[in-house]
Amino acid sequence: MTKINKNSELIIEYLTQYPKMQKKTLAKIIYEQNKKLIDKSTTEKDPVEYIRKRIMAMTGNAGKEKRQYNSVYKKFYDYGVPDYENDYEQITPFRIEVPAYKRLLVAGDFHLYYSKRELLEGMLTWALEHGVDSVLLNGDIMDCYDISFFARTQDSKGFQYELDETKRIIELIQKTLDCKIFYKEGNHEERLPVIFARKIPELIKVYGMQLENLLELQNFNCDYIKDRRLVRFSGLNILHGHEFGGGVAVPVNPARTALLKVNDNVMVSHYHKSSQDSYSDIDGNIKGAWSVGCLCDLRPHYRPYGNKWNAGFAFVKAENQKVFRVTNLQMSETGEVY
Ligand SMILES: [Fe+2]
Repeated sequence: MTKINKNSELIIEYLTQYPKMQKKTLAKIIYEQNKKLIDKSTTEKDPVEYIRKRIMAMTGNAGKEKRQYNSVYKKFYDYGVPDYENDYEQITPFRIEVPAYKRLLVAGDFHLYYSKRELLEGMLTWALEHGVDSVLLNGDIMDCYDISFFARTQDSKGFQYELDETKRIIELIQKTLDCKIFYKEGNHEERLPVIFARKIPELIKVYGMQLENLLELQNFNCDYIKDRRLVRFSGLNILHGHEFGGGVAVPVNPARTALLKVNDNVMVSHYHKSSQDSYSDIDGNIKGAWSVGCLCDLRPHYRPYGNKWNAGFAFVKAENQKVFRVTNLQMSETGEVY
C-alpha cells in the first residue's frame, strides 16, 4: 500500500471487517497496526483522534449528508469530488402551433450562393397549387460563403449580396404564398456567430450583428429559430440535421440515421437527399423519419461529382396535435415535382 493519502482506504478496510466495533477502539487499533502506513501529512496532532473523526464522518450522522451527495464518496473522499454546475438552460422546443397552422411546407438547403431559380419556382408552383399556411425554412438558406473558414476559391459576391438575396427570397415566398414563415438556423447560418466568436467575440451579442436583425426579419412575418432548437409541429420533430454532431460522412439513408438518433417521428434537411424510414415499437406504435432534398445546385464547384444529392422539399399536414401526414417530394433539376 502506498502512502499517497490512503488513510480512507485503510479505514474502510477496518470498517468492513469490524463494522460494530466502538469507534475510538477501532481508531486505536488502526493506528497501532498501521503506524507506518498512516499518511502523517493529512493527520492532526493526535492521529488516533484524526482516525476516529474520519470513522465518524464515514459512518455517523455528521457525514450522512455528504455520503448521500455522492454514492462513491468513500472512494473519493480524500481526493475531493468537485461539484460541477453548468449554466446551460434547457432549451424548450419551438412549437409551430396547431390548429393555427395546419399545412406546413418544409424546405431547406437553398445555399443562396448556389441556389437555382428553377427549383424555387418548382416548389412555389407546387405550394400554390396545393395550398400552404406556413413555411419552415429549415436551415442553410444562406450559404454564408464570404464568412466561411473554408478556402474561398470563387469570386466573392460579398456577404451583403447574400443578405440582400435572402431578404428578397423571404419576401418572394411570403408574397407568393401569403403565409407565415419560420426560419430555422442551419450550420451555414451558424457561420456568423462562429466567426464573431473566433475573431471579434465582443460583437457576438450586439443587436445589429444578429443574423435575424441583419436580415430585418421583423419586417416580415418571420420567426427566427436559433441555438439548434428543436421544432415541433403536431407529432413531428424537425431539425436541420447538424444538431446531432458527428462526422461528415453522408449516411446512405439519412432518415434512418435521424430515426435512430431521435427515436421518435423526425424530419431533417442538411443531407441534400430525400429518404424515408419507419419502425413500429412493441406496442405497434409507428415512428416515421424523413430527410428532405435541397434547393441548391446539385453540382457546385466545390463538390461537382458523386455527392448523390437530390432536389426536393416536404409538405406536412397536421390532422391534430399528434397526427400528421408527410409528403416528401423530389424535384428534377429543372424543377418538375414528382
Ligand atoms: Fe446543413
